[in-house]
Amino acid sequence: DAQKADYKTRIKQLLIEKDAVLVAHYYTDPEIQALAEETGGCVSDSLEMARFGRDHPAKTLIVAGVKFMGETAKILSPEKTILMPTLEATCSLDLGCPIDKFSAFCDAHPDHTVVVYANTSAAVKARADWVVTSSIALEIVEHLDSEGKKIIWGPDRHLGSYIAKQTGAEMLMWQGDCIVHDEFKANALRDMKSVYPDAAILVHPESPASVVAMADAVGSTSQLIKAAQNMPNERFIVATDRGIFYKMQQAAPGKTLIEAPTGGNGATCKSCAHCPWMAMNGLKAIEASLSDSDKTTHEIFVDEDLRVKALIPLTRMLDFAK
Ligand code: 13P
Ligand code: SF4
Repeated sequence: DAQKADYKTRIKQLLIEKDAVLVAHYYTDPEIQALAEETGGCVSDSLEMARFGRDHPAKTLIVAGVKFMGETAKILSPEKTILMPTLEATCSLDLGCPIDKFSAFCDAHPDHTVVVYANTSAAVKARADWVVTSSIALEIVEHLDSEGKKIIWGPDRHLGSYIAKQTGAEMLMWQGDCIVHDEFKANALRDMKSVYPDAAILVHPESPASVVAMADAVGSTSQLIKAAQNMPNERFIVATDRGIFYKMQQAAPGKTLIEAPTGGNGATCKSCAHCPWMAMNGLKAIEASLSDSDKTTHEIFVDEDLRVKALIPLTRMLDFAK
């Protein structure tokens, strides 16, 4: 722990020296979230990370999250240096939606409006009419549906099905999923609920439909934190990455937060409620991103042609969310 304290001290110095600010997602480890809070950075969901990064005056943003979050920051702020603790931190949704295949899917349905989740590459965003995050997806699809638009949705099939069900919109679905949320199991959740009948169930909509169907509240990470704060229950079963517990417990002190079951009956799962890519954002990697002279292992670059194209649907989302 002396080593951790050293890293923290050094990171704080470097943030000042380099005119940099730390922008962290709720799924990063608690010590990273605490550091972002202590140093005037932000801890938030992916929509707010995008907004905070765009509006902050610092010359450099350190994005502690996964690659699409760094790319989004660069698309919105090309004049800023965007660093990430590691460029290896990706997302199964981004990996499962390669641009050539996705573009062919869109080309096959030219009369559809293309709506993509923020968890995608810059190239996929550049092919889209709209970008959405989980906190604004429902409202944007509702709006498009009210205009009579038919929609291509990608890549998260669970979030897409949830939105299609809520809005009644006509949606052609790309078949991607999040390896973390896809592991939550309805049967095991039912068993857990019978042990804690007073608990409210909070679910991120990247979870399977059978799990979403059991939810008392469905929403993005920040919406789930608000639910824990505002709902009268003393106990919550939470179906999302366990990184969220740090801020959720701060927002709802004294309430009991329980991890929703993954895998069922003690069976193993691939990622067990913690994103392996979010977990790569350690103190050592943050220190390296700020001090390395070899920026190629940390700096985000986006092809200018793609950036200009991807900026259009991203700006549409941010303007809609105002
Ligand atoms: P939020 O937009 O809810 O923060 O979700 C991002 C994400 O990667 C969820 O798995
Ligand atoms: Fe992607 Fe899932 Fe990790 Fe979020 S939790 S970054 S959706 S793999």
